[in-house]
Amino acid sequence: MPNLSTSTLGVRQAAFRCIACGDLSESASQNFRCPQCGDLLEITYPCWKGAGPDARKLKDTWRQRRLSQSPIDQSGVWRFRELLPALASDEQAITLREGNTPLYELPQCARITGVPRLFAKHQGLNPTGSFKDAGMTVAATFARLAGFRWVACASTGNTSASMAAYAARGGMRSLVLVPEGKISWSKLSQALDYGAVTCQLRTDFDGCLRLLQELVFRAPVYQLNSINPFRLEGQKTLAIELLEQLDWQAPNHIIVPGGNLGNSSAIGKALVEMRDLGLISRLPKLSVIQAEGANALVRTLREAAGKRLISVQAETRATAVRIGNPASWQKAAHVLEATAGACEQVTEIEIAQAKAEIGAEGIGCEPASAVTLAGLKKLVKQGFVKPDETVVLVLTGNLLKDPDFTMGFHRGDLFKGTSDERAAAVLNPLRRPPIVLDATLEAVTRALEQAE
Ligand code: F0G
Repeated sequence: MPNLSTSTLGVRQAAFRCIACGDLSESASQNFRCPQCGDLLEITYPCWKGAGPDARKLKDTWRQRRLSQSPIDQSGVWRFRELLPALASDEQAITLREGNTPLYELPQCARITGVPRLFAKHQGLNPTGSFKDAGMTVAATFARLAGFRWVACASTGNTSASMAAYAARGGMRSLVLVPEGKISWSKLSQALDYGAVTCQLRTDFDGCLRLLQELVFRAPVYQLNSINPFRLEGQKTLAIELLEQLDWQAPNHIIVPGGNLGNSSAIGKALVEMRDLGLISRLPKLSVIQAEGANALVRTLREAAGKRLISVQAETRATAVRIGNPASWQKAAHVLEATAGACEQVTEIEIAQAKAEIGAEGIGCEPASAVTLAGLKKLVKQGFVKPDETVVLVLTGNLLKDPDFTMGFHRGDLFKGTSDERAAAVLNPLRRPPIVLDATLEAVTRALEQAE
C-alpha cells in the first residue's frame, strides 16, 4: 500500500497536525486520523513560524501570475501555491483551471434583505460545477504523487463528479459510493461520463462514508472525501481569491452552507492563516447555515455546547447537504469560534424561496447553496448582520446540478402531498411555469400580454 507521508507526498514545508491533541507527524494513516487520539488531521506549515512569507510579495506574485499562460498559473487554486503543500515541479499538478470564479453583486437580493453590500462568490462556475474542484485538484495531485492507482469517495453527488473528473485527467481510476435514489441525475451522470466505477448503495451518505472508512484499510484506494486534509488546503483558495477580489478589504460576513462541514473548515482555516500572515488585517465572521432537516451542527452547538456531536437522521430536498453525521464538525465548530460566526438553520420553504430569488438575479444555484441567502435573512432579523455591513454568500453549486428541483418548484409540485403544501403558497409569486400553447401568433401574443 502506498505510504501517506509528507516526504513521499512531495510536501516540503508542511506537516500533519491533529486538531485535538496537536500531535505533529510526517505521515498519516489511510483514514487521515491521529494515531494517538483518533481525531482528524489538518495540514500545517511549521516553516511559517517566525519570518514566514512576505504578504506584499505574495500579493504581487499572485497578481503577476494572472498574465501567465502556464496551466498551473491559470489555475485559480495553484496560483496561490505558496499557501499550499509544495510540488517538486509545476507539471505535477492535475488541473482543469479550477477556481477563477466570479464575485457577483446581488442587487435584488440586497433589496430583499436590506443589506446593500451583498455579494455572491459563485463556486458553481468551476469546471465540474461545484466548489469541490478547488479541493480536488490538490488532493488528486497528491494521490498520484503518492503512487495510488485508485481514488474513492462517498458523496451526495458533487464530490463524486469532481473526483471522477480529476482522476480521469490524472490517469487514475475512481470508485464512487453514493446513496441510491438520493442524488440528482445530473451529478450521477457526470461521474459516469468521467469514467468512475459508480456504486449506488442502499443507505444514506453517512452509511456510504462509514463503509469507505473500512474500505481504505482493505484496499489500496486513496480517499478523497473532505476528511482528506489536502482537499481542505485546495478549498482554502476560495477565500484567498475572494479577498483578492475585494482588494484585501475583509468583508464583515461570509456565509456558507454546512453539510459534511469541510468547506466551512477550509474557509475558516484560510481566513486565520491570511490574518496571521498579514494578508488581511481583520477576520470576517464566518457563519454556517444548515437545512433544518440536516441540522447536526446547529444542534451540537445549541444542545451540547459544541462538546460532542449530536448526529441526526438527515432529510432535506437539498440533497447535497443531506448529511446527519458531519465528519468535520469539530473543525467547523473551531472556526465558528475563531471568527465569532453564527450557525443557523432554514426550512425547506425558505430554501426554495431563496433559490428562486438567486435565480431571478440571472445567476442561479443548486438548492444547498440557497441556504446562504435564507440564512442571511434570519441573521439580519436577529441583528447579527447589520444593514451597513458587507456580506458574501458562498454559492457552492451550479443551477444545472439539480434541474428536477427547479422544475418541481416552477410547476408547483415541489411540496405537493407534504405537510408544507399550504405554506408553499408563499412561493407562488416566484413561480414561472412553462406554458404549453398552440403554435400561433395569437397564442404567444396573449401569453406575452398576460405576463406583463
Ligand atoms: N453545497 C453543495 C452544493 C455541496 O455539494 C455540499 C457538499 C455542500 C454545500 C456542503 O459542503 O460538506 O463541505 O459542508 N457536498 C458533498 C458531496 C458532501 O458529496 O458532494 P460541506
